[in-house]
Amino acid sequence: MSINHPNFGKLAEDRVIIFDTTLRDGEQSPGFSMNLAEKLRMAEALAELGVDVIEAGFPIASPGDFESVQSIARAIKGPVIAGLARCAQGDILRAAEAVRDAERRRIHIFLSTSPLHMKYKLRMEPDAVLQQVIDSVTLARQHTDDVEWSAEDGSRTDPDFLCRCVEAAIKAGATTINIPDTVGYALPEDMHRIFTMVRERVPGAERAIFSTHNHNDLGLAVANTIAAVAAGARQIECTINGIGERAGNAALEEVVMAIRTRPDAVPCKPAIVTERIMATSKLLSTITGFDVQPNKAIVGRNAFAHESGIHQDGVLKNAATYEIMTPESVGLTKNSLVMGKHSGRAAFRDKLRALGYGELGDNHVNDAFRRFKDLADRKKIVYDEDIVALVDDEIVRDHDRIRFVSLDVHAGSRGPARAELELEIDGTTQSATASGDGPVDATFSAIQQIFPHQARLVLFSIGAVTEGTDAQARTTVRLEEGGKMVDGQGADTDTIVAATRAYVHALNKLLVKRARTEPEALSA
Ligand code: KIV
Ligand code: ZN
Repeated sequence: MSINHPNFGKLAEDRVIIFDTTLRDGEQSPGFSMNLAEKLRMAEALAELGVDVIEAGFPIASPGDFESVQSIARAIKGPVIAGLARCAQGDILRAAEAVRDAERRRIHIFLSTSPLHMKYKLRMEPDAVLQQVIDSVTLARQHTDDVEWSAEDGSRTDPDFLCRCVEAAIKAGATTINIPDTVGYALPEDMHRIFTMVRERVPGAERAIFSTHNHNDLGLAVANTIAAVAAGARQIECTINGIGERAGNAALEEVVMAIRTRPDAVPCKPAIVTERIMATSKLLSTITGFDVQPNKAIVGRNAFAHESGIHQDGVLKNAATYEIMTPESVGLTKNSLVMGKHSGRAAFRDKLRALGYGELGDNHVNDAFRRFKDLADRKKIVYDEDIVALVDDEIVRDHDRIRFVSLDVHAGSRGPARAELELEIDGTTQSATASGDGPVDATFSAIQQIFPHQARLVLFSIGAVTEGTDAQARTTVRLEEGGKMVDGQGADTDTIVAATRAYVHALNKLLVKRARTEPEALSA
């Protein structure tokens, strides 16, 4: 019998499903929490990128998580929307409710199967674990036909027990079986062996899609993913920029471009619009405040830069000498002069569409246009990157409780700096004046006066969005409060305004984090 998946139908031999977990595994890692508006914007971008499944969150984790999974399920058309659940009735019912209104939905349940996890984390005997797999998949199937079951810590699970659990899950109705390398311990040959074994040994294996989910603790997540696909896995779980627990998950952009660049070795076709990769990666960086490292594969600043004379000479003669894929194929285009201060709203809307912001509502367009005009007044050349920074800033701050309004700073070498700041807190404008040792110190003291908080500033960095002395500054601020760490970002031609926006962004993220209560044993 061949696979006839409830959401994907008859799956072609060479089709590989891209399951993006940026909003779940990625979002649950330190410093990467997002608010509702940010998650919705990210989910839209993932849909435009062409991912097949969006794992939107872990609904039982908190009311906020539930709300964001439900909102994504209601708003995003195209991809299957998945909600994560432990193998427990309460989790499954909550996940079922959160994804109920999706055009296409999935419940993803997981339970540990390794000796270590069963003994110390679950404190359960193997037979009880097996029974829980059957009960929970059966329950989930009462709410949707598309049920994924994951053997947490699968790569360190006894092979016979893994096969028994997988068989039981398929019999109970699981349509996708995921075997994660939860702790990033496996080597590529382990993954190849495990997937080959399970597919050969488990009766009924041909009725399920096998999925691979790899963590990057040894830097092998992408290699392990490719090895699993070579052994028959037809779903890849991954995240944008490789974010995720600890060292992260397999990076979507790396896996997809590896498959696309080496069809000879990996004869599979992900349905990803690769030209959207760069924009999606940048959007995530803007939202989370974490830039990728310059030498990051595919999306790093240097990924397509040729510095040495020999390489430059080769590339000029024939790009294929040193480029295994084109920059354009991942959406990297040269800085282009876009518009000046005389450009109108219609041209601005066209530009937004070209940059991939097709579905923006009028309010967002109007706000972004106002900021664009302001920027064009202050800056000689406005590049695509400037517009992206500005629009992302505008959209992702939509639901923020604290918003930047205005700032006047007096600073110099002759005395303490003075900052007059206006912020909007829950819709009410408040102001403060503070002095300090330099303009940043004065401004951050004014923020503290308007919105008193205990958070400690642990990192402050400044970069430039584009080139030139009139370039927008992009600043990152990291705050720490009670062991919780958040990063905020802000962009503006005025460095102190950019820093203020970044601080305010970080504070908003801290408020989201404070409201969040992690459920017990959430180690996925
Ligand atoms: O790493 C893991 O095991 C997970 C599961 C929930 C799939 O994230
Ligand atoms: Zn994981």
